[in-house]
Amino acid sequence: MEKSRIDLPIGVTLDRFIKSKESEYPSAVGAFSQLLRDIALAAKVVNRELNKAGLIDIMGNVGNYNAGGDEQKKLDILANTRFIRALSKGGEVCGIISEESESFVDLENDGKYIVALDPLDGSSNIDVNVSVGTIFSIYKRITTINTALTETDFLQKGKYQIAAGYILYGPSSMLVFTTGNGVNGFTYEPSLGEFVLSNPNIYCNEEGNIYSINEGLSNSIIDLKVKKYIQNCKDNEYTARYIGSLVADFHRNLLKGGIYLYPATTKYPNGKLRLMFESNALAFVIEQAGGKATNGEMDILDIQPTTIHHTSPLYIGSKNMVNSLS
Ligand code: AHG
Ligand code: MN
Ligand code: MN
Repeated sequence: MEKSRIDLPIGVTLDRFIKSKESEYPSAVGAFSQLLRDIALAAKVVNRELNKAGLIDIMGNVGNYNAGGDEQKKLDILANTRFIRALSKGGEVCGIISEESESFVDLENDGKYIVALDPLDGSSNIDVNVSVGTIFSIYKRITTINTALTETDFLQKGKYQIAAGYILYGPSSMLVFTTGNGVNGFTYEPSLGEFVLSNPNIYCNEEGNIYSINEGLSNSIIDLKVKKYIQNCKDNEYTARYIGSLVADFHRNLLKGGIYLYPATTKYPNGKLRLMFESNALAFVIEQAGGKATNGEMDILDIQPTTIHHTSPLYIGSKNMVNSLS
């Protein structure tokens, strides 16, 4: 059955959008709305800090490595701290996992929601003033409220997300998210300090002609069908576009039609991208926009994570492009 889409004018603020959604969907409780507001607030704070990068000493490496083996940047830590602070204060979130933390954080409150975060995506691009992002997923907790959280609360399939989205810090910054009823994009208006609706009901064309992959990895791609697919893109003179910030690459393909590929390689035999911090959220968004996301064999949203830092190949974007890979 065709889902009803929210019909609000361009320019409406995120706050009004959230309020109007509450009345349209009585099951959406105030706590969930507040959680979305907390995310928007953290996004504004991170946006402010990123705008100062280059002027103050927040670029460069910290000298530590995160659980996925990436060298942490100062801004990874800063974004992580800002988001965790905003989410902890609200009281709606009881547990957080982050790409930058080894294991889960139990906030020991009676909040109903679990959040998974990639606080700063594409962080290697920040030192050269190129777009970066934040990716988030929201789930309901599984264990009983007021008991200790367990891994079960976090290791949920992507199909159980109740909301997900990303913030793109670019020439203008955007918040794009879904609560399972289509995808809406909000652009940050710095003089108002507000996110305003700019891209209602985003739809991803079923066909596209952009392909996004790190072609430096061509010789180490394990799956032959991916190699063939890339050759096919070249035979058809598709356009290659790869920024190296997943959020930015994904956002462009969402709006213009295209496919993003991060296959299994000899260096990353299970793929590089993190299911719980990157792939699940974007898979929920793309499916709600009419696109598709797989690991080459099954839908991303059906994968059972075995660890918090589970990785998998990712093929995501226009439906027919992703289908022709399988
Ligand atoms: P992060 O900065 O959160 O570690 O993510 C980096 C990811 C993703 O944003 C990007 O698409 C991909 O890594 C780039 O990887 P390659 O440099 O291997 O192409
Ligand atoms: Mn990332
Ligand atoms: Mn990151």
